[in-house]
Amino acid sequence: MKKRRAPQTADARRCAALIHIAALIHIRNKEKIVTSDVQPPDSFHPEQEYTDGLHAEVLEELRVGEHNYKYRLINGIVMPPYVTPSRYELSRTIGLRANDVCYTGYPKSGTNWLAHILVRIVNDGEVPHDKTLRDSLHWIESSTHYSRTRAELDALPSPRIFSSHMPFHMALGGDPLSNSCKHVYIARNPKDVAVSYYHFEAGQPWSGRYDGAWSHWLQMFVDGQVQRGDWFAHVLGWWKHRDAANVHFMTYEDLLTDFRGELRRLARFLEVELSDAVVSTIEERTAFNNMRQDRFSNLHDVVEMKHLYRKGSVGSWKEQFTVAQSDGFDEIYERQMRGTGLEFRFE
Ligand code: A3P
Repeated sequence: MKKRRAPQTADARRCAALIHIAALIHIRNKEKIVTSDVQPPDSFHPEQEYTDGLHAEVLEELRVGEHNYKYRLINGIVMPPYVTPSRYELSRTIGLRANDVCYTGYPKSGTNWLAHILVRIVNDGEVPHDKTLRDSLHWIESSTHYSRTRAELDALPSPRIFSSHMPFHMALGGDPLSNSCKHVYIARNPKDVAVSYYHFEAGQPWSGRYDGAWSHWLQMFVDGQVQRGDWFAHVLGWWKHRDAANVHFMTYEDLLTDFRGELRRLARFLEVELSDAVVSTIEERTAFNNMRQDRFSNLHDVVEMKHLYRKGSVGSWKEQFTVAQSDGFDEIYERQMRGTGLEFRFE
């Protein structure tokens, strides 16, 4: 099993990428496995942070579906190539502290918004001046963008903020009910999630530069075949444990409708007192337009995040779904959600 670790400097990264390309060509000649990322050096995208060779670790495990959609399976669930076996293992075994904050959401549910809010909650409304959002949190399961070693994480002062997109049974630090970390889960209506995810994921280096049409993506989403798996299982898995003492479940739509109320509830859960002035600061600084302009949160330090701030609203799915797609999805939604007590606002 070949393991490749991310070198630190840009030159080293470029060099490793070229070695990787040579290695893949060699492998391709031998046994025809994943080859869609094999590109001549002149089409290498040095500005992008993610490449399989540097971040996918065990290349032989990568799979390629229709329209080049690239993924790996962990516990039978579709995951991005950068959720490597060793990063996943680290995320499951990291020692969590009682005052750590672990936030989780299915991709495109507003997790970066929540992250910014959390950073400000634990810093009395401010953000560290020498950092950006990516430096202020830790995304252990990922080999790129925010990765830290176990030693680095252990050395950090409390409170630490951890990010995850994992379903409940694959959560950070092992079983959430058996660790002391405070877990915040954010969910968003699945129609907006599916659309946001499509626009974000298409063409990304970790998706194999997926080039399917929207209808193809929607089918994969409904089938639970997009990275992070089935939306219903993900959300309902966390929803089931919403009353656990160390779990706080919230929705994107509620945050958009009643920001101050949701912020106060979140702060209470985290046992942090916020003054009215701090509440106002957080509300203003984390508003959509400020987040997308602000150097701290615009995430321009991660090139692949350029489509992160798109609409920032409820109901943009209407611009994407056909009536027939919407009706079909509603039927599935009704069936899956019936009796769960969980309801979303779709407009
Ligand atoms: P859209 O693509 O619908 O605009 P995540 O952070 O989990 O990847 O989610 C991204 C989605 O959250 C995007 O949705 C993005 O625009 C939205 N978002 C990010 N910051 C936001 C904010 N401050 N207010 C409202 N929505 C925000």
